[in-house]
Amino acid sequence: MPDHESARALAVLAGGTPSVNPKQMREVRQEIQRFLLQYEFGLREIETKLSILSDEFVALHDYNPIEHVSARVKSPESLLEKLTRKQLPRDLSAVREHITDIAGVRVTCSFVTDVYRLFDLLTHQDDVTVRVVKDYIAVPKANGYQSLHAVIEVPVFLSSETVAVPVEVQFRTIAMDFWASLEHKIYYKYSAEVPRRLTDELREAATTAAELDARMERLHRELHGGRA
Ligand code: GTP
Ligand code: MG
Repeated sequence: MPDHESARALAVLAGGTPSVNPKQMREVRQEIQRFLLQYEFGLREIETKLSILSDEFVALHDYNPIEHVSARVKSPESLLEKLTRKQLPRDLSAVREHITDIAGVRVTCSFVTDVYRLFDLLTHQDDVTVRVVKDYIAVPKANGYQSLHAVIEVPVFLSSETVAVPVEVQFRTIAMDFWASLEHKIYYKYSAEVPRRLTDELREAATTAAELDARMERLHRELHGGRA
């Protein structure tokens, strides 16, 4: 699709342009759906890799390092919101070039060691290329947020070409996930203007969550004699 057309595609989704008739609108939506399909395929590749690792782990060690996996492709609306926030042009080539979390997978693990183990196992696979790693476990964000983020590229084999699809994978423990979802809800409720008392408490709660992680992992090791 030529650039001016893709620009139009996203402009329409942004709220419609007066000159666009229903037929053009349908075409534009189809164009975006086709664009997003590759990302959907990328997600499936990563999900399969994770489920193979998990099943093999259970077979070998009778232990599952993954609590759960969730995956989503960003909606056109939230892509537009991000383009606007980052002051990028509203077209699909800007989306492809600058937005690396169109496909996103969240892997919730039992323990911090599992987070790093899964990360290593996934990123060392021959067909996986690591683009960016942000280790917010080693260095938590100022608000207390912890997780290990990676943008990885995985090949997707289509009928006429092979495309490298970027997927953002977030690895975290249950405690980190609990904290992040609560923090997200609080920000949503206060529409970003959270009282100081709450941000202080959230930061403390993140420390408590990290302590809990360390404690549970120690217990687990004691119970299983260092296995897994
Ligand atoms: P975005 O533009 O929002 O994608 O952030 P970024 O490009 O700086 O990337 P980063 O790796 O810091 O964050 C990406 C994603 O991690 C976000 O979309 C959230 O899902 C999650 N995340 C990052 N920081 C926070 C946080 O402070 N709180 C919560 N709840 N989630 C966060
Ligand atoms: Mg994001």
